[in-house]
Amino acid sequence: MTVKNQNITFDKLDKDDQIPYELLLLADPSKELVDEYLKQSDIYIARQNGETLGVIVLFLLTTETVEIKNVAVKPELHGQGIGSFLIENAVQVALLNRQKNICIGTANSSVGQLYLYQKLDFEITGIKRHFFTDNYAEPIYENGIQAKHMLVLTRELNDE
Ligand SMILES: CC(C)(COP(=O)(O)OP(=O)(O)OC[C@H]1O[C@@H](n2cnc3c(N)ncnc32)[C@H](O)[C@@H]1OP(=O)(O)O)[C@@H](O)C(=O)NCCC(=O)NCCS
Repeated sequence: MTVKNQNITFDKLDKDDQIPYELLLLADPSKELVDEYLKQSDIYIARQNGETLGVIVLFLLTTETVEIKNVAVKPELHGQGIGSFLIENAVQVALLNRQKNICIGTANSSVGQLYLYQKLDFEITGIKRHFFTDNYAEPIYENGIQAKHMLVLTRELNDE
């Protein structure tokens, strides 16, 4: 399967379209929490030739800040720039809506994601201590580290 970022579209999911839970649950193992934020979020899909490659969920946190609640790419397509494509398109949506900041939360254990978001100009702006231990029934481990705290990373959009 070749992607190479060609002819990939980025569109808001229609209300009648099927929600790509298999992708959303890769980023967030709690369907209960996913369903809760989906009630007030917009879902955007990256597609190529009709195939769904990835998903990103945007939630209006305040009038000035939009939060990426979920971003996920089909596992067999990781590392081909689709995650970056989704995030850069989300930034464009936020700019069109005149928001000033875009933020994303990730676990202390999500080493690759922390690398990716900082490479995309997000900076650590906060920590929600014990978020994962308080909100998830089962312990989550990644890279041999327990997910305990949520790090919040923000990209300021003022200068863009
Ligand atoms: C995070 C995710 C969306 C990134 O998508 P992607 O299409 O692989 O991202 P890109 O190809 O644009 O960029 C990947 C870059 O980040 C790094 N990276 C991203 N996730 C990584 C991970 N879990 N482990 C190691 N490196 C990772 C890659 O090495 C790559 O670096 P490079 O550009 O220097 O080669 C994807 O890994 C995914 O769906 N993961 C499962 C769901 C998830 O964890 N979502 C985020 C929740 S906070």
